[in-house]
Amino acid sequence: MEVQVLSSAPAFLLDPLSDPDRSPAKAGEFPPLRIGTLVLEVPVVLAPMAGVTNPPYRALCRSFGAGLYVSEMISARGVLENNQKTLHLASFFPEERPKSLQLFAKDPQVLEKAARVLEGQGIEHLDLNLGCPVRKLTASGGGSALPYKQGRLRRLLAAFRRGAPNIPLTIKCRLGIDEEHMTWKETGHIAQEEGMDAIAVHGRTAAQLYDGEADWEPIAELSATLKIPVLGNGDLFEASDALFRMRQTGCAGVVIGRGCLGRPWLFRELEELFRGQPSSPPPNFGEIKLILRRHGELLLRFFGPELGARHLRKFASWYTKGFPGTSRIRDRLVRIRSLDECLALMDEIPDDSPFPQKAVRAKRCKKGGRQKVALPPGWLDSPV
Ligand SMILES: Cc1cc2nc3c(=O)[nH]c(=O)nc-3n(C[C@H](O)[C@H](O)[C@H](O)COP(=O)(O)O)c2cc1C
Repeated sequence: MEVQVLSSAPAFLLDPLSDPDRSPAKAGEFPPLRIGTLVLEVPVVLAPMAGVTNPPYRALCRSFGAGLYVSEMISARGVLENNQKTLHLASFFPEERPKSLQLFAKDPQVLEKAARVLEGQGIEHLDLNLGCPVRKLTASGGGSALPYKQGRLRRLLAAFRRGAPNIPLTIKCRLGIDEEHMTWKETGHIAQEEGMDAIAVHGRTAAQLYDGEADWEPIAELSATLKIPVLGNGDLFEASDALFRMRQTGCAGVVIGRGCLGRPWLFRELEELFRGQPSSPPPNFGEIKLILRRHGELLLRFFGPELGARHLRKFASWYTKGFPGTSRIRDRLVRIRSLDECLALMDEIPDDSPFPQKAVRAKRCKKGGRQKVALPPGWLDSPV
């Protein structure tokens, strides 16, 4: 199978052994990440990812390493309207702690009420999505369009805080709408002033989608100016990327998205490096099959056989990415209807196949390419 490599950095820059900035943490080098009352010994957050960071995937990732595991984005309005699908996605396995949800909302009243309900139900951390670049949200002034309007942003965050005064609240944003309409600086200051406990910044604009490489300079600048923790996000595919970026920018923690798709053991590698140990080698395919089986069981338990199997198709294709022979099974993989069917297909890849290093930076699920961000009429006329 053809694998596209995201980074053109020379191999030696990506080799943790040859670059000291990628070496395991020294004692006391990275203090625990404090997000309000939450204390994370390992400063790593699983990025909210729609269709991905559901309870099964969070449980799986958590079994590999310490960190904060956030839900996919949940509609605040859906919570208030008792939408059954929303409530299911906003639920947790009984053993999951802390209970961490990401909301999307653009109406302060809706957000305030939803936050109040969720805090009342024992949710222990809420994040607000201010970075989603999709038309469905931005065209009406939500997602990554919203931070451009500073007054609205302030009102929204104030309402968020009023709704949930006692739990850690964070926001997650992009750098701006496009190169001409950057918002990260003002967003950082407004977040701090309105009582947010941390801000996560993906180093791309909404226009950029997943194009090019994430720019970590604004993350460094915000980290140097804000008192609240700044979490850096974008293109962290190896555990050592996280340490490298934290050393380079001084950010307080990292948010891991695509790098863990099909590679939940990345959280083990991150914990090892942050605890000062070398990271263990990646599993071979036989071990990955066991992980996939566990993941599949959790998906079926949470979503039931039909929807669970549909989710499994997507995850299974990520687990097999880059292994020789996967192109032969791909057509059948996207049609599997049970875990057994999936595992039978996996038997076509030899158990002793080593994890293909080229798959680490291979594109997963989001393509390159830019967009013109859909916005309400006149949105860019004024930032207030
Ligand atoms: C499949 C997928 C779904 C995503 N869904 C969300 C989401 O629900 N909320 C959000 O804030 N960001 C979402 N994102 C963006 C990620 O949280 C993250 O910011 C982005 O992928 C950049 O990080 P990465 O380079 O580590 O992947 C999603 C990304 C992917 C790949």
